[in-house]
Amino acid sequence: MYFRGYRFNAATAPVSPYPFDPIREENFQQKLFIPGGSGPLGVLDVGGPLQISASAASFPILGGQASPFLLYQTEQAGKAYQNPILRIESGARFQATLHNALQEPTIIHWHGLHTPAAMDGHPASTIGPCGRFDYDFTVRNRGGTYWYHTHAHELTAKQAYGGLASFFLVEDEDQRRLGKALDLRLGETDVPLVIQDKQFDTTGKMLYRPNAHESMMGWLGDIILANLTPNAYLTVTPRIYRFRLLNGSNSRIYRLAFVKGKTPLNFSVIGTDGGLLDQPHTVAEAYLSPGERLDVLFDAGQAQPGEAVFLKSLAFDPMENEDTGGMPGMGRTMGQMMANMSSSRLPLGAEFSVLKLSVTEGERFVATPPAKLSEIRPIRTGGASDRKIELSMERMRFLINGRTFRMDEISFEVKRGAVEIWSISNPGRGMPHPMHIHGFSFQVVERLNSPPQVSAGARFGRGRTVSDLGWKDTLLVWPGETVKIAVDFTHDFPGSQTYVFHCHNLEHEDAGMMINFRVNG
Ligand code: C2O
Ligand code: CU
Ligand code: CU
Repeated sequence: MYFRGYRFNAATAPVSPYPFDPIREENFQQKLFIPGGSGPLGVLDVGGPLQISASAASFPILGGQASPFLLYQTEQAGKAYQNPILRIESGARFQATLHNALQEPTIIHWHGLHTPAAMDGHPASTIGPCGRFDYDFTVRNRGGTYWYHTHAHELTAKQAYGGLASFFLVEDEDQRRLGKALDLRLGETDVPLVIQDKQFDTTGKMLYRPNAHESMMGWLGDIILANLTPNAYLTVTPRIYRFRLLNGSNSRIYRLAFVKGKTPLNFSVIGTDGGLLDQPHTVAEAYLSPGERLDVLFDAGQAQPGEAVFLKSLAFDPMENEDTGGMPGMGRTMGQMMANMSSSRLPLGAEFSVLKLSVTEGERFVATPPAKLSEIRPIRTGGASDRKIELSMERMRFLINGRTFRMDEISFEVKRGAVEIWSISNPGRGMPHPMHIHGFSFQVVERLNSPPQVSAGARFGRGRTVSDLGWKDTLLVWPGETVKIAVDFTHDFPGSQTYVFHCHNLEHEDAGMMINFRVNG
């Protein structure tokens, strides 16, 4: 499996080597930035209303060189935080005021949270420079690894890439029981890890200047950041670690594996977008598309002290299954065309490393997670109504049901309390699209007509992969696929609620691959 998948020929091979080239394992010498109790990505246990300011600042990334960077800044109990990892108990009230200290409009969206539409950070809620927005809602979600980021109308890609994003961790009993059983400590053995790809100029400044092709296909970086650290390493002891993986990239899809030498090692997936699964599932690789999360347990005792394990993204063919008009080999040609037209030295689907785990001496700690991590109640789909969603492309734009986003257009209405099965299909000359629903988590019912590289990992019934299990809010739909999901539109918010459904390839989102839907009151 490791050697399967797309190989780039010499003409499209990434330019190599370059500083911080993630293909070269010897580059992995920067200590992984681990969130602490304050400062950048500091863990902030929400203890009252927050004042959050979205501001243009700078942040040292490449070898400590400062780069212009956008940050959410806040304070609590005399401590300052930048892009804090917000942590809060399920059921608690969350209050925050966003102050826009940028020169352009912005708004925060709480990705994965079930909030009233007015609190969701819909693009219509965007506030201008110097504006403010008051958030006040109850955290109704179960424990899990959620996140927050800018949702500024038509500026989401640029601002999220610029820095405006972080984690939103929800705690509950299930999470605590798991933490106890495995001796997990946030920031030590429980590591939130946001993976992003960026481009930099020679002075270490982050670059974002998509050409027409990149605006259409999505912006790719060629330097990989893990918690804002390029070519990062983490020293680990022979014990179990929890990694809360978040793909915070604009458009890059990762095929993640923990690799020792040439061998992918086993890891357990314990959670997805909306919290813990019912039980852990052992796999050797998993796809992670923009916006998605994977909570995994990795036993570093699978390697000896002195050895290294690399968290890698393995090679894959982003265009596999693409409709080639019956011309064999055309999919590959399309892939090469994409590689040639992108300014990134690292094509989509190339193999590279994300993080080096350096195993050192330490007490061997083996523990098994609770056999039952949590309870996932399947959505009852008897009597559910069907809705067809078709992704397409027309004149260099990707569309949903033939439409491009219009602020005042409601694509469809859903009844409060209704259960619907959405069949999302990606026919024709497509590319993979990570589709995301605001306001409601869903469950994946079935994956049909998957490309071979996806169906190879479909061990979980009805064509589903490990990334499809549990509660989801974002779902990768590959070329040629139809994916069926079940959504329960029960809510207790007063009146009608309008949310967006969009592609989380952020260039696609900003280009209008997004629709409004209204849940009637
Ligand atoms: Cu994380 Cu509307 O998105
Ligand atoms: Cu969202
Ligand atoms: Cu898309």
